Amino acid sequence: MQAGIQAFDADAGITYDVGRQYRHPTTRTYLADVRERTRMADLFAKCATLEKPRQAEAMGCYPFFIPLESEAGPEVIIQGRKMVMLGSNNYLGLTQDPRVKEAARDAITRYGSGCTGSRLMNGTLDLHRTLEARLASFVRKDDSLVFTTGFQTNLGAISALVGRHDTIVLDRSVHASIIDGCRLSMGETLRFKHNDMADLERVLQGIDPKRGILIIVDGVFSMEGDVANVPELVRLKKKYGARLMIDEAHSVGVFGEGGRGVAEHFGLLDEVDVFTATFSKSFASIGGFVAGNTDVIYYIRHMARALLFSAALPPASTAAALAALDIIEQEPERRTRLWENTRYLQSGLKELRFSIGKSESPVVPLIVGDEMRLAMFWRGLFDGGVFTNAAVSPAVEPDRALIRTSLMATHTPSQLDFALEVMGSTGRKQGIL
Ligand SMILES: Cc1ncc(COP(=O)(O)O)c(C=O)c1O
Repeated sequence: MQAGIQAFDADAGITYDVGRQYRHPTTRTYLADVRERTRMADLFAKCATLEKPRQAEAMGCYPFFIPLESEAGPEVIIQGRKMVMLGSNNYLGLTQDPRVKEAARDAITRYGSGCTGSRLMNGTLDLHRTLEARLASFVRKDDSLVFTTGFQTNLGAISALVGRHDTIVLDRSVHASIIDGCRLSMGETLRFKHNDMADLERVLQGIDPKRGILIIVDGVFSMEGDVANVPELVRLKKKYGARLMIDEAHSVGVFGEGGRGVAEHFGLLDEVDVFTATFSKSFASIGGFVAGNTDVIYYIRHMARALLFSAALPPASTAAALAALDIIEQEPERRTRLWENTRYLQSGLKELRFSIGKSESPVVPLIVGDEMRLAMFWRGLFDGGVFTNAAVSPAVEPDRALIRTSLMATHTPSQLDFALEVMGSTGRKQGIL
């Protein structure tokens, strides 16, 4: 290298060649850049600027992280007070079922309290394989694979299946776990307007046919309780040579003659290529599963990092899900009761003139719009003895803040009457109605 003029940077403690472009990290340009950046930004600066939850806390209407002091049944104890629970996903009421609890207890006795490794290495129990075989035959697929959470199921399945030559086409309102699965995958992600099949077709038309395509929707959309248009999704997936993944988290146990979800409800279960669901709702446990054809499940089993590098579902949770599956298969009357309760609450809310959007499921929203009004309304319901969920952006569109209510098979008519009374009086008092 030609000798140039040298200078000493006292701050950085290095000597450098004047005029030379440095690339190595110990050079002056790099250090100058670091000094510049540290003058401008502190990683933690944003932490002190999260205004909305602090504002809601200051106003005494912060609706999140509220500890329950009892089981999450149709009534719960919160702050020592009995309340009607309209904010759980315990659709069939099975978290309180003695058979589910006993199965969990027995599994702890036999297998201990946890699996200390991943399914790949040392965490697979015969119980996992039994559950997987039962789930596969339940949703009429060749095989299934159990993950430790529903979130990890979507993360693992999507990121494993979608490679750099593939495109995901996503309903805008899918669950966060699906969005994050897409972010982790190597493929491109395109979105279509919520439940808008014309827009889906527009997106599909623009994709190079040489790319593999995975369309992903929720069966029941988790915040507004509306249902995916499965017949149209199937028509379009066939027309454009795509594969279809449905997350049946809120629909398994709830929809369909056998409780297999919305695809069964439409008579199109065979057309779903990738079926995912969670155990944290109708299955009264924690965990999730993906089901599909033999090769697809084999591939995911060996490629899904959320499975390979995370400890397996604990024995008690696996056994509880298995016991819940027995009940889902054997007691369709639970679904009947859930739907009776759903219709009862929906018609009561409509009579009161609440705006409940396009809900067609036991997830029933009360759409309020503004987030601060929502927080006040939530607090009014809470004070009145009704526990609900407040849903704000990014879970819903920013101008569509809503109270999310959800039914259980085990709610009684008098509990629902009480809730309707509180919702009506609070809504009138606060000008929501
Ligand atoms: C549609 C949907 N998919 C996946 C999940 C994640 O499931 P889990 O909470 O069991 O991890 C949820 C949870 O709320 C959900 O609503």
